[in-house]
Order: sequence, then C-alpha cells, then structure tokens
Amino acid sequence: MSQANKITVYEVGPRDGLQNEQSTIALEDKVELVNLLSATGLEKIETGSFVSPKWVPQMANSLDVFKEISRLPSVSYSALTPNVRGLEDAITANVDEVAVFAAASESFSQKNINCSTDQSIERFKPLIEQALAKNLTVRGYVSCVVGCPYEGDISPRSVAAVAKQLFDLGCYEISLGDTIGVGTPKKIRDVIEAVASEIPRYAIAIHCHDTYGQAIANIYESLEADIRTFDSSVAGLGGCPYAAGASGNVASEDLVYLLQGLGLDSGIDLEKLITAGNFISQQLGRVNQSKVARAITSKLRASST
Ligand code: HMG
Ligand code: MG
Repeated sequence: MSQANKITVYEVGPRDGLQNEQSTIALEDKVELVNLLSATGLEKIETGSFVSPKWVPQMANSLDVFKEISRLPSVSYSALTPNVRGLEDAITANVDEVAVFAAASESFSQKNINCSTDQSIERFKPLIEQALAKNLTVRGYVSCVVGCPYEGDISPRSVAAVAKQLFDLGCYEISLGDTIGVGTPKKIRDVIEAVASEIPRYAIAIHCHDTYGQAIANIYESLEADIRTFDSSVAGLGGCPYAAGASGNVASEDLVYLLQGLGLDSGIDLEKLITAGNFISQQLGRVNQSKVARAITSKLRASST
C-alpha cells in the first residue's frame, strides 16, 4: 500500500461522541471504550476534554479517564483545551496531543466558548506556545465551516482565514468541522479549496457530523480532493451541546468500510471497531448508529446460530 493510500482516522467518539450525553456515563465504561478503541489499530483517539465542567458536565472526569486507560505506544491520546487552564490539566493528565477549537461563525464562538473568534485566537496564543514548549502537538478545529445554527451559511473565505491563523500559530493540522452536518459535496469541496489556498493540503482534516446523512458523500469528495485525515465517532455517537439538533459524527465503522472498499488503508480492524461501538451503544441503551456495524453484527449473529 503506497503512502498516498494511507488514511488517518481520527477517532473522536470518547469526546465528541459522549460530551452531549445527559446521563452520567460510568468512568469504567468510558475507560473500557477507549481501551477497546486502542485495540482496533486506531492511531489517534480524542479521549476527553479539559473544558469548564459547568459548560460540559459529561467531560468533568477526563483526568480520571486519562489516568485509568491502558495506553498503547502506537496511539496518540488527545484532549480539547479551550484555555491555558485546560492545557495545564491536560499536561497533568499526560496527554499526547491537545486541540484548540475556534469557529468561523461569531455567534457559535460566543455560544460555545463565550468569546469572539478573535478573542479565542488571542487566548490560544499562550496555550499553543506552552504546549509546543512541552513537546505536545497541537491540533486546531474550525467549527461551522459550512453552516452555523445561529447565522446560516458561512463563507469558505472566513473559514480559510481562521484556519490560516491557527496554522500560523503552530497547529500542525486543522480539522474543518461541519458542526451541524449541513454540508454537501460541492460545499465541502469549496471549503477545502479555499482553505488549501491558505495552508498546505496535507494539514487539512475533515470532521463531518451526519445530521443530513451527507457525511460519507462529503468524505468521498474530500478524498477526491486529496484529503487524508478524517474525524469520526464510533457507532456515530454524539452531537455538540451548543449546536441544537446536530447529530453525531460520521460513524467510524462506516468510514472504515468506505475506505476498505476504495482500497485505502486505515490500519483499522473493522470487526474490533464494531465490538467497541456495540459495547458503548449497549451501555448507553442505544441502537448503534452505524449501518455497517448493524449489518455486519446481524450477519455474524445469523451465521453463529
Ligand atoms: P467562561 O465562563 O467565559 O470562562 O467560559 P471563565 O474563565 O470566566 O470561567 C468560568 C468558570 O469555569 C470558572 O469557574 C473557571 O474556573 C472555570 P468558577 O470560578 O465559576 O467556579 N474554568 C474551567 N474549569 C475547568 N477547565 C477549564 C476551565 N476554564 C475555566 N479549562 C470556557 C469559557 C472556554 C471555559 C467555556 O466556555 C468552556 O469550557 N466551553 C467549552 C465548550 C465545549 O466544550 N464545547 C464542545 C466542544 S467544541 C465541539 O464540539 C466542536 C468540534 O467537535 C468541531 C465541530 O464539530 O465543529 C470540536
Ligand atoms: Mg464535532
């Protein structure tokens, strides 16, 4: 498999997938989820979030999750950090990577992190500087790259401007978040091309929520545009607490199935991924949102009876 065929799946289920859950999820279930995901061949797992517990209560025990997981050296375990306070907690938790998160929409920025996009960039400067000084890699998110729940359509140019600022500050990768899943392939392509005119294409990742069922089509288009990193959430878990109605990320199982079908290598064992997704869906009392997981699980059940 050539290097060009290597795709990175950035698993965000333990963070993006669980952050919006209203009932408390047991620490041991969070830990077991990360451990099951670690066994799949994933190289990147967003494991928690060091944000204000008043804003996102479900992530309040991220430090404990990091303490309890069994880490594999092949896996980078990351966390969201909105400010220096969050970075300090992330360092205590011995994370491998941190992620800052900005938005291409002013209203979303205010609702999500209580400041303007410019203020958030100012807040990230010391954070990124200190993280890099500690040899941590820093990822940057831009939310609302196609549409915003409060402002509607967002222009690709404003996405590119925020992406460039984060990249110039030292983020090695910028993940473009279709936070409310309204993107379609043409819109996603337009955003990618606008961002690629400001930062290297290899530094662009795509983070699709699947609210309108377009995520797989958008990822296919992004592959055609030479994007090689995709965020996804096992069992399609998730949503954003500050984007009402937004559903989970594209299911990791559906993404891996697509990649396998295209002869692209993610290094991930699909059956083990399905096991992880079925585990957490069962703990949450949910139907697994991945169609691939449901289809393969029923096939395996039928063949074992
Ligand atoms: P604020 O209220 O403006 O900040 O919140 P503050 O500095 O005034 O602090 C308020 C309280 O929070 C204080 O506590 C601080 O100590 C505490 P009090 O004195 O009232 O007891 N605090 C903290 N506690 C723990 N860890 C911290 C921290 N910072 C302050 N790091 C703030 C500003 C950014 C903190 C808040 O708005 C926040 O935490 N927001 C996070 C929201 C969030 O996590 N959203 C979901 C993730 S983003 C997402 O899902 C999108 C993404 O998936 C991409 C996509 O799909 O588009 C990434
Ligand atoms: Mg998200």
